[in-house]
Amino acid sequence: MDAYSLPSEALQRRAHELIPGGCHTYAKGDDQFPEQAPPFVAHGRGCHVWDLEGREFIEYGMGLRAVTLGHAFSPVVEAAIQQLSRGNNFTRPAPIEVECADQLLALIPTAEMVKFCKDGSHAVDGALRLSRAYTGRDMIAICGDHPFFSTSDWFIGTTEMNGGIPEATRRLVVKFRYNDLASLEELFARHPEQIACVVMEAARTEEPVPGYLEAVKRTAHANGALLVFDEMITGFRWHLSGAQHEYSVTPDLSTFGKALANGFSVSALVGRREIMRLGGNDHDRERVFLLSTTHGAETHQLAAAIATMRFYRDNPVVETLYARGARLRQGLERAVKENSLVGYIDLMGRDCNLLFGTRDASKQPSQIFRTLFMQEMIKRGVIAPSFVVSYSHSEQDIDTTIAVAAQSLKIYRQALDMGADKYLNSHPVKPVFRRYA
Ligand SMILES: Cc1ncc(COP(=O)(O)O)c(C=O)c1O
Repeated sequence: MDAYSLPSEALQRRAHELIPGGCHTYAKGDDQFPEQAPPFVAHGRGCHVWDLEGREFIEYGMGLRAVTLGHAFSPVVEAAIQQLSRGNNFTRPAPIEVECADQLLALIPTAEMVKFCKDGSHAVDGALRLSRAYTGRDMIAICGDHPFFSTSDWFIGTTEMNGGIPEATRRLVVKFRYNDLASLEELFARHPEQIACVVMEAARTEEPVPGYLEAVKRTAHANGALLVFDEMITGFRWHLSGAQHEYSVTPDLSTFGKALANGFSVSALVGRREIMRLGGNDHDRERVFLLSTTHGAETHQLAAAIATMRFYRDNPVVETLYARGARLRQGLERAVKENSLVGYIDLMGRDCNLLFGTRDASKQPSQIFRTLFMQEMIKRGVIAPSFVVSYSHSEQDIDTTIAVAAQSLKIYRQALDMGADKYLNSHPVKPVFRRYA
């Protein structure tokens, strides 16, 4: 089968016959997008993508926020290709493993050692295993307001979609609320000397209230637990040295992925030597099996990471993400006002990581209106499950998006007044984490 020469609809049917859910990542699935969305992206360049029929779109949130520089970004692609020609996986480590470690640790000055892996989930899993080994405890406290930490049992067991995960695993994870120190203190009081670590994003859509992150760290340490920041999203976006630098709070361990290699599969666990070294051999404590896989340090992916980090260092990438996001936010806010939609469309998060929420006529969060808005944007050439920009979104792309959003919001307003069913030509999108299809 040459998948690229089939019509989208035929390929979509085949995909559902061959792959549970029709694709390999839930967040890219058909249930996440209106029916007008292109079922497949055939290729991309910068922030533009083309479907199998040759239709062109501006895309947001590219590669689940991993592609921060742009699709097919030549400095990164060329570095990967060059490295591939030397071979990508040997019986002994490649020098590039050390070079990449050196580069990343230079960017995250508070971290002393690093271990690379493929997915963000594995990096966070590694942080948990190390924390448990270091503290001799089993329980984990996670921030319940942050939506995703890992595909592994310990986290998926806490979601609605917890089929196949033993109750015993689920009991080991407890949740606290963001910006609510008392809720964390309460967990430590309820489970004394049992919690190995506190896992959270330093921030998501809500900024930390002054002193909150420092207090979380103090509370964790006072109770003998470690602090883990998941920087999968904030890393290479809030600041080149991570949210830990932006907020001046150094966690014991932190995890990076996504933007680290512009969409290539590289993630990293970094942290204090005293803890990280348990994964090595220069100590007399019990050894910890830390992030060791067949494909873990493929050389071309590390070359992509090095090229990505170099580009970030030599160019104002983070500044551009903020600037483009700010321009987009201002334009969207204008369009929302012009269409009398204040209170119906929420724009959330930092400019470099702009998300939106949709509300129905009674101002309740609405998947139907989310679908309608996405439907109208897609009809006009913009795929926007979020408004998360990349370095490749030009001012012109942003202005086109604002114009498209203004037209789409006109329909949104009419649908609020006349009923969404008159305008919606799709099944409503659904949350990933739900118990039944
Ligand atoms: C904050 C956060 N942590 C961890 C992960 C897991 O990363 P991956 O999908 O690369 O395993 C994600 C993925 O979306 C994430 O957003």
